[in-house]
Amino acid sequence: MSDSILVAVAWPYANGPLHLGHIAGSYLPADIFARFHRLFGSKVLMVSGSDAHGTPITLKAESEGVQPEEIVERYHSSFLESWRRFGISFDLFTSTMTENHKNTVQDIFRKLLEKKYIYTDKMLVAYSVDFDRYLPDRYVGGICPHCNFDQARGDQCDSCGQTLDPVDLIDPYYTRNNKKHPVEIKEAEHLFLSLSSFQEELQKWVGGKDSWRANVKNFTIGYLNEGLKDRAITRNLEWGIPVPVEGYDDRRIYVWFEAVIGYLSASIEWAKLSGEPNSWRDFWEKPESRSYYFMGKDNIPFHTVIWPSILLGYGGLNLPTDVPANEYLGVEGRKLSTSRNWAVWLNDYLNDFDPDPLRYYLAAAMPESSDSNFSWSEYIRRNNDELVATFGNLVHRVLTLLHNNFDGSTPLGNVDSELAAYADLTMIKVSESLNFSPRFKEALGHAMALAHETNRFLDYRAPWKQVREDKNGASNTLVSALYSIACLKVVLYPFLPFTSQKLHELLGFSGNIEDHGWEIRPPSPGLDLPKPEPLFVKLDDKIASEMVAKLGSYAD
Ligand code: MF3
Ligand code: ZN
Repeated sequence: MSDSILVAVAWPYANGPLHLGHIAGSYLPADIFARFHRLFGSKVLMVSGSDAHGTPITLKAESEGVQPEEIVERYHSSFLESWRRFGISFDLFTSTMTENHKNTVQDIFRKLLEKKYIYTDKMLVAYSVDFDRYLPDRYVGGICPHCNFDQARGDQCDSCGQTLDPVDLIDPYYTRNNKKHPVEIKEAEHLFLSLSSFQEELQKWVGGKDSWRANVKNFTIGYLNEGLKDRAITRNLEWGIPVPVEGYDDRRIYVWFEAVIGYLSASIEWAKLSGEPNSWRDFWEKPESRSYYFMGKDNIPFHTVIWPSILLGYGGLNLPTDVPANEYLGVEGRKLSTSRNWAVWLNDYLNDFDPDPLRYYLAAAMPESSDSNFSWSEYIRRNNDELVATFGNLVHRVLTLLHNNFDGSTPLGNVDSELAAYADLTMIKVSESLNFSPRFKEALGHAMALAHETNRFLDYRAPWKQVREDKNGASNTLVSALYSIACLKVVLYPFLPFTSQKLHELLGFSGNIEDHGWEIRPPSPGLDLPKPEPLFVKLDDKIASEMVAKLGSYAD
């Protein structure tokens, strides 16, 4: 029976376009993993959506003087365009604005209330008398009690990095239309999630996760060891999901509580759309099903503590199998910063370049266990040396020799047993690196090692000479290389889906490459091959400085 695998990807806030940090952090690894599993024969469900609520959205809407819906719709379309052009293969990419999501969230909320995991209590909140409104943490400014920075925010100090509450700030204020207004701290009633109820269960659960990445496991254990405090999960806001409790009309459900429920609500929505409304249950209720959550490291506690607590409280649904969170990707040796425009925007990139060279680079330099860096000169070097020279030329040399010397049809010949064994082993190694706890750089390394090995084999056999001196020998060499290329097409597919599909066709096949499965299937003898075409385009070195010049500045 095939495995059922849920690929759950962090929901991007719909308040701006995607940049390479998002892509390397969550979407690319999730997509590689999903594509591998589809090819490998697993049942895959890959979901996410636009995170529509929360202060990132309302701040943006206020700054433009428009409704939050308008912001969400704008960036939701931009996300969909990115997925299509970059080949991020969601089964469903929805949003937290749907009726289905609201119903799922409220259902879970009610169940947790019933079971007393949600209860009322008082908390201190920031309030503006001038505007008669409660202020989200992030809207409040003031002096940091830790480092005296005078522009700290009510959720965090950008200077020393401490997490803050608005009450911690000295001389709190609220800026509106460039004027500072006083902030009052008031007591208000809210609903709290009893995270402390799950402390022991979570500690036991995480303690047993030996295959998790060290950074994810250690961070979570450290977080739990500090002792879980119950958290308010309602806020005084208008934008968000209504609280299904009487007397709470002026409050909304806290964005993080409802956004993580999106994984479940999106699965339910997908099932409805697919015409089998119960099919989501395979992924969530069968104990043998696996679930993987992809995100950047700042999202770890929400997925290893908060979401599992909600699931434990609700009952009957699977906890995450693994949370392979990534570290950060810098740009040209510096920290990525959207406010300084020190970022490479995905849709801009796609206007000028092909998706696969970037997928390749970001996979090869993925911030899996430590921060990594994107630089344009390294992008061009990897494109030219690794994709064009190593993989692309290998394919082009072989297909051109066949075209020029064998009428473009596959000759009869014997596959070299050593090269075949190398390819067969590559299939096993790549699948081992990707199947359970994904190690993307390692997997890509195994695949590229076969490309190098095949180039060495060709250089040694020199089929361009053999065709003149020993045609049978040339046939043997070329069918051996074809065997290896048929393997590369498969093992590189999760990383380079557009290129692999093209190669699939250059090898004389039609239809979708995914239908061939995780199997080496070289073209049969006598099969006519189409006219060869290069797989990649060589890039001029001078592009690097042109692209660097488009970045913002770190001058201030
Ligand atoms: N929108 C959040 C961010 O961009 C991530 C939400 S992940 C979810 O940091 F699971 F909560 F949706
Ligand atoms: Zn500070």
